[in-house]
Amino acid sequence: MKHHPIPVILMTLFLAASAQAQTSAGNAAAGKYESSMCEGCHNAHGGFKTDFPEVYRAPKLNGQSAAYIAQCLDDYRSGARRNPTMKAVADILTSQQIANLSAYYAVSKNQSVK
Ligand code: HEC
Repeated sequence: MKHHPIPVILMTLFLAASAQAQTSAGNAAAGKYESSMCEGCHNAHGGFKTDFPEVYRAPKLNGQSAAYIAQCLDDYRSGARRNPTMKAVADILTSQQIANLSAYYAVSKNQSVK
């Protein structure tokens, strides 16, 4: 067994490590850093991701309003909007991280092309 990355566990550890701070206004720079765990599904090519076992179709986030992104994540977290993948993601985000990510995607007009 050579390459066996466990991205969800890494993501959990990463998010837990930065879960200490108190919630304040969204910090786009912090959000850009935190978005590294979203980019695999929500990055270039119009939101298509092809390097997982399956091809996901994940919506474009760049340039959406901060309020919209935050509302979506709150809805996944609360169960008002049902999607198992995003429920798992939203459950491990702190309110601060949601604020940061929302601030970041709102000012990130260009899709990152990798
Ligand atoms: C494993 C793939 C994956 C990861 C990782 C992921 N997402 Fe998603 N995301 C999706 C999919 C698929 C959808 C569409 C779900 C649906 O139909 O409701 C989605 C939907 C969303 C939406 C709703 C967008 C809209 O216009 O309806 C937001 C906001 C979002 N994700 C934010 C994030 C953020 C922020 C992160 C990182 C913390 C993240 N996602 C990580 C796959 C992913």
